[in-house]
Amino acid sequence: MNSKERKRIMRTITIFDTTLRDGEQSPGVNLSFREKVEIATQLEKLGVNVIEAGFAASSAGDLEAVREVARVVKNASVCSLSRSVKKDIDCAWEALKDAESPYLHLFLATSPIHREYKLQMDKEKVKSRVCEAITYAKQFFSEIQFSAEDAGRTEIDFLCEVIDVAIKAGAKVINLPDTVGYLTPCEYAEMFREVIRRVPGIDQVRLSAHCHDDLGMAVANSLAAIEAGIGQVECTINGIGERAGNAALEEIAMAIKTRESFYKVRTTLNLKEIHRTSRMVSKLTGMFVPGNKAVVGTNAFAHESGIHQDGMLKNRETYEIMTPESIGLSESRLVLGKHSGRHAFKDKMVQLGYELSEGQINHLFVRFKELADRKKEITDYDLIALVEEKMVHS
Ligand code: KIV
Ligand code: ZN
Repeated sequence: MNSKERKRIMRTITIFDTTLRDGEQSPGVNLSFREKVEIATQLEKLGVNVIEAGFAASSAGDLEAVREVARVVKNASVCSLSRSVKKDIDCAWEALKDAESPYLHLFLATSPIHREYKLQMDKEKVKSRVCEAITYAKQFFSEIQFSAEDAGRTEIDFLCEVIDVAIKAGAKVINLPDTVGYLTPCEYAEMFREVIRRVPGIDQVRLSAHCHDDLGMAVANSLAAIEAGIGQVECTINGIGERAGNAALEEIAMAIKTRESFYKVRTTLNLKEIHRTSRMVSKLTGMFVPGNKAVVGTNAFAHESGIHQDGMLKNRETYEIMTPESIGLSESRLVLGKHSGRHAFKDKMVQLGYELSEGQINHLFVRFKELADRKKEITDYDLIALVEEKMVHS
């Protein structure tokens, strides 16, 4: 198959970033107006397709921030969350009316537990509220997304009925969130397959996945939904969000990238901006990224053991499935520690500018191992000290 034929059957997955809305719902995070605009500008550079800038009706400050993001961002749709009530829709329109591509995100819970305890609405009431809200919003917005909150715990028959109502009322995107991060990848994919099988007109709208990480499966669930045929994923930078967080954008992006031809899907992301975006979000939210975090942790491209370092020096694909350069880092790190081998040690000496004989390397390598037994990570300064000490005494 030539590249033209391949492209023809490639699907482009819409990336809906909710760092500024669901991400900001992380306990302890409160972004200022300026910080929101700074992150939104970076998300635009990263190439996300939709930026959910906030929940305009939740506070005057959020309305202003959504309005400013909408004013500044030109190359992505800017979105506000809204409950399925007129007051919220009015606030969202107030914030978004000057946007290049305004996008409304309406939601209403559909699961039995939410209907009974939170909403106190029966099934008919839920359906009529969805219809009323979308019908009302249509006079302002042409891009309307409807989310069936807690779709993952909703009876499938009822879920299909609600989706049918939303499509007939004019929703262009249907999002089925796993709000409480309960489902497994097979279960989540099956829900989408069932909806695709049963709901007439489903091929006229974009289906969207929105996963939470309560059981550590948000990214796996999002990928399973892509395999089931959906066209949009909702995610946050560094996976920040309510409770255990949302699906991490950078993980989804690189999972797609590393199997693009197998999945036959791609994104419009500028992957080289991933690292910079991750650092910025971490700094401005105050949410630390653990060293072993996939893709953006400081250890994600660091190799310590001698066997791994030796493999890396011969061919980096032995231990790297993607390059650090592909996410905007300059290089992989070979970390010298007690598991490191002579090969990596010698390589480091050359990098530090020392021309040493095999005998000198052998001697220094023994001294290095003694030090590494006492110290977790050996820095360049430690190595320089070892060499200088040897020179003084020889
Ligand atoms: O997790 C969720 O269900 C949400 C909705 C508002 C889409 O964030
Ligand atoms: Zn959510």
